Amino acid sequence: MDGKITGQFGKSLEAKDAGKLFESTGFNNNSNNSFHFDGWIYGRITAQEGFGQNKKPDLSDHTPVEAGDYLINKGQKLYYASVNRSGKIGWEKNTCSYAGQTAYVIEILTDRASDEYKNFLKKRKIPYLICGKDEIDFELILNKLYTIYDRRNLMLGGGGILNWSFIDQGLVDEILLVVAPSFDGNPLTAQVFNSKYTKDPHAIGLKLKKAIVGSNGALWLRYTISSNNRKEK
Ligand SMILES: NC(=O)c1ccc[n+]([C@@H]2O[C@H](COP(=O)([O-])OP(=O)(O)OC[C@H]3O[C@@H](n4cnc5c(N)ncnc54)[C@H](OP(=O)(O)O)[C@@H]3O)[C@@H](O)[C@H]2O)c1
Repeated sequence: MDGKITGQFGKSLEAKDAGKLFESTGFNNNSNNSFHFDGWIYGRITAQEGFGQNKKPDLSDHTPVEAGDYLINKGQKLYYASVNRSGKIGWEKNTCSYAGQTAYVIEILTDRASDEYKNFLKKRKIPYLICGKDEIDFELILNKLYTIYDRRNLMLGGGGILNWSFIDQGLVDEILLVVAPSFDGNPLTAQVFNSKYTKDPHAIGLKLKKAIVGSNGALWLRYTISSNNRKEK
């Protein structure tokens, strides 16, 4: 209810019903409201906290690595593109599962990532795309996922820092928000749109396309973006 995406609020019965609504629509390809994603994009903190990938990667292999992308595992049905600028996620395997679906991991790195981390990924059979020098080039992520991995319909799943960055750059067509009728008053937990990283808060306006009322007062809201007061840099 207060724009938080993690925290105590999730323990209420009302929030659990909202969670079920989210999974039974967006992630259920038999639902009329499914987006039929062929890939997900998640931020580094979400992979570590939300998907439990918080082990440290093994960085013991110092073999020099050729510059450029590492392109394996093409032709899979579903991918999990993991934005991980400098290479901190210690994946234990090359797939990730959520709500009954399993996706193949693709790491999105910048030139900051070390050869040791790239060797770690290669051993785990995880492909990587270099998208940026020091900072992430968000448009390049989408271009590479489109041209190399043939993706057409991606779900940006969060967290809030990553959501803000993609939306602010005009790279998001629609926002699907499931609102749980619950809150916990914690000022420190992650919020759904967060300009902490880019430090340029400003108004973004939305147009409602569809709304569904679920059980126990959960709301499913589908919007397009109608205005963005971004100052061009
Ligand atoms: N309820 C839900 O549906 C939902 C969905 C997703 C996540 N979550 C929760 O949200 C929390 C994490 O969200 P978060 O907002 O803190 O983090 P996040 O969006 O998952 O990850 C942000 C990180 O991405 C990297 N990054 C680098 N450049 C960036 C840029 N220009 N813009 C954005 N990110 C950039 C940074 O890590 P580096 O410095 O390593 O590059 C940054 O700290 C977790 O607790 C997760 O469980 C909830």
